[in-house]
Amino acid sequence: MDSKILTALSCCLLLFILAECQKEKLSKATEKKVTKELKAHEPKFSTVVSKKLKQGAPKLPKKNSLKPTTAPRQGQQSPSILTQAVAKGQFQKVPSTLVLTAGKTLDLRCKGKAVRWRYPAYLEDDEVERRLRIKHFEKHSQLIVINTTAADTGEYSCWSFQCRDSECRDGEDRLGKTFVFFTDPQELFVPTEDYYEVIQLRTNHPTLLPCQVTNPLAKVTLHREFPPEKVIVDGIDISYDVKRGFMIHRPRPSHAGSLFCMANVHGVRQISTKYMLIYVNYPSSVPKPAIRASVSSIRVGDNFNVTCTVFGEPEIAVDFTWEYPGQQIGRPPYVREHTDLVRRGGQVRQESESILYVDEVRPVDDGLYSCMAENLQGTATVSTRVHVLPVTLSPKKAKSG
Ligand SMILES: *[C@@H]1O[C@H](CO)[C@@H](O)[C@H](O)[C@H]1NC(C)=O
Ligand SMILES: *[C@@H]1O[C@H](CO)[C@@H](O)[C@H](O)[C@H]1NC(C)=O
Repeated sequence: MDSKILTALSCCLLLFILAECQKEKLSKATEKKVTKELKAHEPKFSTVVSKKLKQGAPKLPKKNSLKPTTAPRQGQQSPSILTQAVAKGQFQKVPSTLVLTAGKTLDLRCKGKAVRWRYPAYLEDDEVERRLRIKHFEKHSQLIVINTTAADTGEYSCWSFQCRDSECRDGEDRLGKTFVFFTDPQELFVPTEDYYEVIQLRTNHPTLLPCQVTNPLAKVTLHREFPPEKVIVDGIDISYDVKRGFMIHRPRPSHAGSLFCMANVHGVRQISTKYMLIYVNYPSSVPKPAIRASVSSIRVGDNFNVTCTVFGEPEIAVDFTWEYPGQQIGRPPYVREHTDLVRRGGQVRQESESILYVDEVRPVDDGLYSCMAENLQGTATVSTRVHVLPVTLSPKKAKSG
């Protein structure tokens, strides 16, 4: 079964890589096309936007419908500590979402004595860091990003430490944050270094496809590469968050494959990085093994065995390891393992069992037998003790010995 899956997977990967090589050429061509299209649209784009803006907010339903879902209830109890420079010496409270044109300077100010900042991981890069400046003052801290790019899109937050005497702690109530979109008509998606990304889809684990847009007005759809089709985003199984990407809430094997996102802003379309989704049967919990020795005490020379059993979800691999007294002197381990599907309480469960055989018992076999059962969630250990009965010396033997 496992080898079949592996073969299938490697075939997929090969096909995928072959396809990628062709795609790369194709995408270069489309890139050019997109740029061309863009140029044709550029003047329209700006006039449409400004017209709409002049006509007032109701004409921008997308922006309006976006706000309630993306604006966290922040700064309602206490005034935000985060402000933004709007002109020289002029500051304004920062909304939960900021939209700036790439190239502009981001200038944020955070009130507090010992301020910490958090910003997109991309800005932590050494080469990029020259564009990021943080200055601490007595009562506030300033974060400036110059020559911004679409890649700077993300959450910016700050919090101040509350220090009394020599003790400092995070002032949780004093948190300011904003999500900044740096729009760039050439980069509808926040650029990433990788042409494709491998993502594990784990049973019961929500999975994020981080195709993050640089414009909150982008219309984003999800697509499968082979066979080419649009993936249904119903908001329940799969949902979209303009600040994060697509979330697959309950991954299933059918979700696996090569997917990508497509963004559309005023007729200009771009596709994201490809996401190679691989489904992994993931256990919901660590194994719960049970251990049983065929005997609790045994005579030298006899045989016994210890059985370690795990009942769990089907298709979930469980690995067993044993620790036993004879190990130190290199008693050869003699272990047999098997898995079966069994019905328990009306449910199909997988029974995984490991049996340790101890033949021709010696005094050294006396002691604790431990079985460690491991799956992708973790390891659990169970133990049992087996007594090797002391050799009872008969009076005859005692005399002759
Ligand atoms: C920012 O952009 C200007 C103009 O393009 C350039 O001269 C300057 O070196 C850039 N600064 C950094 C830190 O990249
Ligand atoms: C384990 O040993 C007992 C005797 O001690 C034997 O009856 C039993 O069949 C053994 N179990 C297995 C699985 O071999």
